[in-house]
Amino acid sequence: MRTQVGIIGAGPAGLMLARLLHLQGIESIVIENRSRTYIENRIRAGLIEHWAADFLIEVGVGARLQREGMPHWGINIGINGDLHRIDFKALVNKRVTIYGQQEVVKDLVERRLADGGPLFFEVADVSTHDLTGTQPKIRFTHEGRAQQIECDFIAGCDGFHGICRPSIPDGVLSVFERDYPFGWLGILSESPPPDHELVYSYTDRGFALYTMRSPTLARLYLQCDHEEDIESWPDRRIWDELHRRLGGARKLEAHIVPPTGAKGMNLAFADVVVLSRALDDFYKKKASDRLENYSAACLRRVWYAQRFSWWMTQIMHRFPHESAFDRRRQLSDLDYLTSSKVAATSLAEQYVGLPLD
Ligand code: PHB
Repeated sequence: MRTQVGIIGAGPAGLMLARLLHLQGIESIVIENRSRTYIENRIRAGLIEHWAADFLIEVGVGARLQREGMPHWGINIGINGDLHRIDFKALVNKRVTIYGQQEVVKDLVERRLADGGPLFFEVADVSTHDLTGTQPKIRFTHEGRAQQIECDFIAGCDGFHGICRPSIPDGVLSVFERDYPFGWLGILSESPPPDHELVYSYTDRGFALYTMRSPTLARLYLQCDHEEDIESWPDRRIWDELHRRLGGARKLEAHIVPPTGAKGMNLAFADVVVLSRALDDFYKKKASDRLENYSAACLRRVWYAQRFSWWMTQIMHRFPHESAFDRRRQLSDLDYLTSSKVAATSLAEQYVGLPLD
């Protein structure tokens, strides 16, 4: 097989890239090692920034999001039980939309198939070749047959644990890592939301977040110890702890799924928008300066998101070796955030997502 852009991974990034390239008249082939059912049901992120929701609508994959997505014009910050609302509408006149990543994936898969594909599920033994040449190749097996795609470009959209990251030649990748000294327990609960907006709760017992996936499905996170065994969190303990940290949580059946972050899907969209524009210049104007500037353009946004997530995390969690000074400083940070319009506006601007251009 031959194509212009070979895309590895049918998550939000790979599928959105395929859609954007299609709109630009650039060919691509998408391969995915999981099944369609699996990727359409895996619970991941669920918060879509203001520009990203508008963008999904603009590129023709937002009809269901407009019907079923839950626009939120603010969030609540809990400080040891006292709730303070940050009013995004009043401060920045923007919203975020709660709409699960698996729903975005369903919409993008449907669109891709309507666009004529190709999209291969359940591929195996994926490898990349000739990455430094002008005709890189992807090899894989599909339905028992060995296949090869010759391409002009390979887009590695298979995430942190995928095969593309380790395929990047030595010396090209710089890694910056931050390990937090705690983990998060993610809970999905078939229960109506206790509040119609998200609650970020700072308490003496640690952080808790209440969010949702639909009017009948709550999503909750509890700060827990690093790599704590799920066996040590029986249902009773989860509900007691939610009750203490969020107040009013009811005892219901829970499914435990791994924790997730809020900016991930939005950064994935931003990256592929930048990439699709660079590829458009390459094919239509024979210009490669945008391709060369790709990393710099994306990293600026990525570092804004990193800094914001780090800041939210460090003011809201209990840390293993914190001092009384650290606790007072966190409380003062939260007090300032919830009393100063300027501080709240800064949070709102970053939370709803900076505009793309
Ligand atoms: C989620 O809905 O899963 C979610 C929302 C906001 C966050 C993290 C996770 O900060």
